[in-house]
Amino acid sequence: MYEKFWGLKEKPFKNTPDPRFLCTFPQYRDALMKLNYVIRENLGAGLLTGVFGCGKTLLIRSLTRGLAAQKYRFANLVFPPSSGEEFLRSLVRALRPSELPSIKSELMEDALLEALEKVVTDNEREGRETVVIADEAHSITKNEIFERMRLLLNFQKDDRFLITLILVGQPELGPKVADLRQFDQRIAVKCHLAALSENETKEYIIHRLKVAGRFDEVFTDEVIAEIYQASGGIPRRINYTCDLCLMTGFARQQQKIDRAIFEESQTVFASAAAAESGTDEA
Ligand SMILES: Nc1ncnc2c1ncn2[C@@H]1O[C@H](COP(=O)(O)OP(=O)(O)OP(=O)(O)O)[C@@H](O)[C@H]1O
Ligand SMILES: [Mg+2]
Repeated sequence: MYEKFWGLKEKPFKNTPDPRFLCTFPQYRDALMKLNYVIRENLGAGLLTGVFGCGKTLLIRSLTRGLAAQKYRFANLVFPPSSGEEFLRSLVRALRPSELPSIKSELMEDALLEALEKVVTDNEREGRETVVIADEAHSITKNEIFERMRLLLNFQKDDRFLITLILVGQPELGPKVADLRQFDQRIAVKCHLAALSENETKEYIIHRLKVAGRFDEVFTDEVIAEIYQASGGIPRRINYTCDLCLMTGFARQQQKIDRAIFEESQTVFASAAAAESGTDEA
């Protein structure tokens, strides 16, 4: 809508995990390096935690895109399963749906485990490593699911794990896993993403504008400081705030986002939030 006005090829602050926009600040580089290490060196399991909207899913997308497709088979599980059996089922479905056991059986879990073992061993024979990514893992409430995950790490040959497991979730996932000591011991690396600093927030905004095709400055330094305050340095919130600023600047046909535009955009934000929570009288 406002792209042409701002000289952009596309919207710079869309809330989608698009790896083209990744800013590799030290904490992202560090996490990418560690998770790459777990997968490439076949270390078993890794953990990535971070506050909501700080870029975990984006980082995982960037990680998997950077690994050769012919060498890895990924199972990306996003929705928390309701039971250990459901977890195994979604895993087989993600890796090779044709192996899902068709008959209902009291021994369904065994049948699913067998199917899984077959898929993983086939992958290995074909020279492909199986990598399971469980995103949103903080919402797993049942320990039996973590227990199934731990059992996956028992799929091994003499010298290697047949499955690499990457757990991803909000900060509460860390203590949840730490409480399950046997499982915790199997996690080879742990990484955490925090909110951005004020300087990083500025670099982040400039970087996303550049990727979207705009090289000239758009936001005054004063506004960037306000965006940092308003967003707490959380990328998803920064995106939301910047997008509203660009929209408001376009509506007012202003060439720069200054304090007045920022404040006006914040009232849009406040009324949208009020409408959402049902407190808007209008
Ligand atoms: N380092 C970064 N560089 C560029 N964009 C980023 C970065 N980190 C986060 N973002 C952007 O912020 C938004 C939220 O990121 P993402 O969905 O990956 O967060 P998340 O940590 O998975 O959140 P949740 O906990 O809610 O699942 C996305 O638009 C993403 O592109
Ligand atoms: Mg996410």
